[in-house]
Amino acid sequence: MFPLQRDRRLRTNESIRSLVRETHLSPNDFMFPMFIAEGKNFQVEIPSMPGIYRRSLDLTVKEVKELWNLGIKAVNIYVKVDDKLKDNTGKEAWNKNGLMQDAIRAIKDAVPGMIVMPDVALDPYSIYGHDGIIEKGQVINDATNDALVKMAVSHAEAGADFVAPSDMMDGRVLAIRKALEQSGHHNVGIMSYSAKYASSFYGPFREALDSAPVDVNEVPKDKKTYQMDYANRIEAIREALHDVEEGADIVMVKPGIAYLDIVREIKNAVNVPVSVYQVSGEYAMVKAAAERGWLDHDKIMIEQLHCIKRAGADIISTYFAKEAAIILNR
Ligand code: PBG
Repeated sequence: MFPLQRDRRLRTNESIRSLVRETHLSPNDFMFPMFIAEGKNFQVEIPSMPGIYRRSLDLTVKEVKELWNLGIKAVNIYVKVDDKLKDNTGKEAWNKNGLMQDAIRAIKDAVPGMIVMPDVALDPYSIYGHDGIIEKGQVINDATNDALVKMAVSHAEAGADFVAPSDMMDGRVLAIRKALEQSGHHNVGIMSYSAKYASSFYGPFREALDSAPVDVNEVPKDKKTYQMDYANRIEAIREALHDVEEGADIVMVKPGIAYLDIVREIKNAVNVPVSVYQVSGEYAMVKAAAERGWLDHDKIMIEQLHCIKRAGADIISTYFAKEAAIILNR
């Protein structure tokens, strides 16, 4: 007797393994999230994200050129807003000469081919650290959409290729699409954070931007009335389908590694590209374990990225983009 199926035959050596490999990783798969701050020739490392910096615009542009030379074709940009510019309406978010708008122009000027995707959400601009406007202790949906629309149009006017609403308000994709069309920005795309969960994996990001919900009585302590419950799966498919109907060009799942079942479900359910955000806390965990010598950093990084791709990601937004691209280009 012999085994009817010898599946190990296709694993005999690296040559055959590479012939039958089902998914491949390349720098083209990545988007790199970047934190931008006011100032000149300034950078500070995020304590819980070794290797990731908050940088002034001049140094950001320098970094974007390096990313481009490594084969990375898209950046997600986030700004740290001065406390004195924050209020409840988030109106600094659509200031034509705001830091985000300046950043979009500077990056497109320096590297025209780079796809620039600014984040659309009010949290960095909100005195309360919420993604929307607060009224009577609630994050109010429709008035927030009006603000997001102004923000998205100002990004388009500054030259953004895509806008990336990460706020999870209902109806914002349709509202933004309509406003982009009406203002003549037919080719500005929308990458919607469709299935964005209320997750504790965002801690280091909120530290980077100083954007965590503030602890005062009148405002919700967390984002659970708009971001999704991590116990839910069917709801994620519904969210993604709504966003595609409303005009999203790309839908995103966030976080990544702990949510790969959702990535696969959504990949099977929609006919637009799916992106996955491997978020700040996921990055921090790998860095911390590697620092202690408990995990092999580079191997874990590439394995995780590969697994995200296998789950169905067409694009991965990851703080590892640069390090991974260097390895993949070898
Ligand atoms: C803000 C936003 C967040 C992230 C991306 N956009 C934080 C939040 O929702 O509180 C998190 C990204 C990360 O953790 O890397 N709307």
